[in-house]
Amino acid sequence: MMKPFTALPSPAGSLPIIGHLRLLKDVTSFSKFVTKHIQNLGPIFKMNFIGQSMVYVADPSAVEKVFRNEGHYPTRSLIDKNVDWIMQRRNEPSLFIFQTGKEWLTNRSKATKQALPANVFSYCSGFNKVAKQFIRNVHEIQNKDGTVNDIRDLVRYWSLEAGAHFTFGVNLDSQCDEDGHAKELQNATGAVIDSLYELQTAFPLYKIVATSSYKQFNRGLDKVYEIGRKYADKYISDIKTRAALKKERVHGTSLIEQWLIEGNMSQDEAIGNAISMLAAGLDTTAATVSFILYELAKHPEVQEKVYQQMQSVMDDDEDIDGSSLHKLPYLGLIIKEAQRLYSVTNFPTRLLDHDIELLGYHIPAKVPILGVMEAMSQDPMLFKDPQKFNPDRWTTDDIHPFIVLPFGFGAKGCWGRRFAEVEIKILLCQLVRHFEMKSNFPSDRLPYDGIILSRPSVPIKVNFTPRKTF
Ligand code: HEM
Repeated sequence: MMKPFTALPSPAGSLPIIGHLRLLKDVTSFSKFVTKHIQNLGPIFKMNFIGQSMVYVADPSAVEKVFRNEGHYPTRSLIDKNVDWIMQRRNEPSLFIFQTGKEWLTNRSKATKQALPANVFSYCSGFNKVAKQFIRNVHEIQNKDGTVNDIRDLVRYWSLEAGAHFTFGVNLDSQCDEDGHAKELQNATGAVIDSLYELQTAFPLYKIVATSSYKQFNRGLDKVYEIGRKYADKYISDIKTRAALKKERVHGTSLIEQWLIEGNMSQDEAIGNAISMLAAGLDTTAATVSFILYELAKHPEVQEKVYQQMQSVMDDDEDIDGSSLHKLPYLGLIIKEAQRLYSVTNFPTRLLDHDIELLGYHIPAKVPILGVMEAMSQDPMLFKDPQKFNPDRWTTDDIHPFIVLPFGFGAKGCWGRRFAEVEIKILLCQLVRHFEMKSNFPSDRLPYDGIILSRPSVPIKVNFTPRKTF
C-alpha cells in the first residue's frame, strides 16, 4: 500500500516555520550534504524550507518516472517562476530560461534552430581559435618547469571567450581584460547563480522586503546586463545593417545576429537571450572543464588514447570540425565520465502538476522533486569502482540512463548542451595535441564545493609539457 507523504523520512532538527533551514548554516557543498542524508535515510527523503517541502531521490527508476511524467510544459523548480517574477519587476523581457507553460514553449521555439547541430558546428572554426588562445595563455603564464599553478582562471577566460564567440560574435581578449569586464562578468554571474538558492523556497520573503539574496541577485544581474549591453551596443549597429540587408548568413554568425535577422525577437529580447546564454554557459562549462582537465592530467593513458585517435583521423595541423568530432567518440565518454564523478549541476529537478507515487510514497503535485546525482554516481551498487575515472565504463557497463543527467532531460533540458560539448571537445583535442598534462595532486578526487553549482575548491596545478612534434 502507498505510504502517505507525511511518512517520508526526513532529517531530525526541523523547526516550526523555517523547517530545516538552519541545517544549511555551515554547509559548503549542498550536494555532499544531501548525499549524506541519502546514505543515512535511504533513497528518498524530504526536507522543509519555510513551508516548502522538497523531495530528494537517489533511485534511477524513480528519477526516470518523474521525468516521464513532466508533461508538455515541464516546470523545473520554483526558481523559474520566482525569477520570472523578478524579471518582470525589473522590466526586462521574459527569457525562456526562466519561463514555464505555453509562454516558455513559444519563446524556446524561437531559438530551436540555433541549437541544432548544423548551427552549433558552424562555430567550430571560432572554437579552434579560442582553444589555441588557451594554449598561448598556458605558454605565457607557465613556470620554467612547465607548471601552471592554478588552471581555473585560464579555464574561466576560455569559457567566456567561447561563449562570447557564439552569442555576440566577439573576441574579448579576456585574458588581458584591460577594461576589467571579463572579471566583473564572471563575478556577477557567479553571484547570480549563488543567490538562486533562496529563490527555491516557497515563501518569497523578497516580495515583501529586499532580502540579501534578492539584492545579490539584482546587483549581479544589473552587472551582467550592463556588460552584456556594452558588448551588444558595440556590435549592434553593424549587425543591424547586415540584418536590414538580409544578407546571406555568414558561416558561424552570432546568435544575436541570427535572432535579429530572423525578426522573431525584439531587439531587447535578442539581447536578453544572448546575455542569458552567455551567462548560462559561463560557470557551468568552466567548472566542468576544470574537472575534466584535472582528471586528464591524472590519467596520461586517457590523453594518449585521445591523441592516438586524433592521429588516425586527421592531420596534426588540421582544425577540428563537426566531421572530425564524429570520428572521435571517446571525447564524449571522457566528458560523461567526468560529469559522473563531479556533478556540477547536481540535481535534475521537476515540479509535477499531478500527484505521483515514488518508491512507495505518495508525493503531492507542485512539490519539487530533485534527483541526487552525486549519491547515485557514487553508489557501488550502480557503478563498479565508482571513485575511479574510467571513460570506457560507458561502453562496457550497463548504466541506467537516468543516473547521470548533467544537462537535465527532455524538452526543458539544457538548450546549450551541444554548444558546451562541441567547445569542450575542441579544447580537449587542441590541448592533447599540443601538450602532455600531468598533475601531482595527492588525492584521487579533486575537492569541490558550492550550493547551486559544484566547483573545484582548491587551486588545480597542472604541468604542461609540449609534445615532441611541436
Ligand atoms: C557543461 C555545461 C553546462 C551544463 C552542465 C548545463 C546544465 C544545465 C542544466 C542541468 C539545465 C536544466 C535542464 C533541465 O531542467 O532539464 C540547463 C538549462 C539551460 N541551459 Fe545549460 N548547461 C551547460 C551549458 C550551457 C550553455 C553553454 C548554454 C548556452 C549556450 C546553456 C543554456 C541553457 C539554457 C537556455 C537552459 C534553460 C532551458 C529551458 O529552460 O528551456 N547551458 N543547463
